[in-house]
Amino acid sequence: MSAPTPRPAETSARLSHKAAQFTESVIREMTRLAMKYNAVNLSQGFPDFAAPEEIKEAARMAISADINQYAITWGAKNFRNAIAEKFARVQGIEIDPEREITVCCGSTEAMMSSMMAIINPGDEVVVFEPFYENYGPDAILSGATPRFVKLQPPDWTFDPQELAAAFGPATKAIILNTPNNPTGKVFTRAEIETIRDLCVRWNAYAITDEIYEHMVYDGAEHISPATIEGLHDRTITINALSKTYSVTGWRVGWAIAPPEVTNAIRKVHDFLTVGAAAPLQEAGAIALRFPEIYYKQLAEDYLVRRDHLLTILDNAGFRCFRPRGAYYIMTDISAFNFPNDVEFAKYLVKEIGVAAVPGSSFYNDPKDGSQHLRFTFCKTQKTLNAAAERLEKLRP
Ligand SMILES: Cc1ncc(COP(=O)(O)O)c(C=O)c1O
Repeated sequence: MSAPTPRPAETSARLSHKAAQFTESVIREMTRLAMKYNAVNLSQGFPDFAAPEEIKEAARMAISADINQYAITWGAKNFRNAIAEKFARVQGIEIDPEREITVCCGSTEAMMSSMMAIINPGDEVVVFEPFYENYGPDAILSGATPRFVKLQPPDWTFDPQELAAAFGPATKAIILNTPNNPTGKVFTRAEIETIRDLCVRWNAYAITDEIYEHMVYDGAEHISPATIEGLHDRTITINALSKTYSVTGWRVGWAIAPPEVTNAIRKVHDFLTVGAAAPLQEAGAIALRFPEIYYKQLAEDYLVRRDHLLTILDNAGFRCFRPRGAYYIMTDISAFNFPNDVEFAKYLVKEIGVAAVPGSSFYNDPKDGSQHLRFTFCKTQKTLNAAAERLEKLRP
């Protein structure tokens, strides 16, 4: 018998094949480039304005009161109760905070834990594209094969036949992000019902990322898929404090799912991260109980920022797809005659001083996004004005 041979010396043989299948986040890279070139950062979706004073004070008080040790792994009771109360208040759905909620480190972990809780080898996941860039690596890391379905500009509708063709016996879930990043699309009731029919037919889950639920404009209404008849028992609703309360750095999110799914999510979550920051969950419980006026004001403030950035981009020669939700504007850059989005984004950050995200990072095939660039408007008027000034140098 020959002696066993050691692993080959090349690094690639010693690293995970999964990790080799995706690159580092383009969005986060653009933020680093923005810092390097001192550019106005309209790439990554984090507010550059203050979080509400009440929740900052609540976090300080929780730390002073020594809520500094591990919370219950699936979430502090007070926080889970607040999540359930808000879901009932806003969506009219009663959920059991003891059996149907898992608090995670941001919606990012909630998505990853949910996928790892339901995916088996050979499973497929339907993903609308353009998609929030995390969903690709989420699929790879959990072992799912993504099946992409196009949202078609200018209004980002999908072809029901194309969607139906993406479902089949191997479909374990569909990932739905509404209001949508990067397009600003808000899925309609009729669209969600089409999705529901396919989920029921193929016995698939709907994993819905609703992190922008309170940012809707022009009369658009956010419909939480769990409220649609027939979807409730097969929906995993993902959300977080990050965007609604302008605390993306807190890393507190959650997954709402039927009890047997929650059991599996809780186990994955426990061994991935043990739990989200205990004092910040206490502060989150206060945030989730903010009165209605807070959410109304939030949407109104974002509407002003959206219209401001639409005007700026329009004046600079971009063709804008007017978003009805979330806080991004997807643009068409063909008027600038650049070979592709990445070259244009690099030119913009280095020479003009404005950072945006290349459209290709939202598509499986980079060619599909090569004439798009995404800008965010979760910024102060001052930041947007600074971007406007710099963009004056840019002419198609
Ligand atoms: C659609 C979507 N989901 C999730 C996230 C990340 O959320 P969190 O900070 O709660 O992990 C983002 C952040 O940009 C997002 O756009």
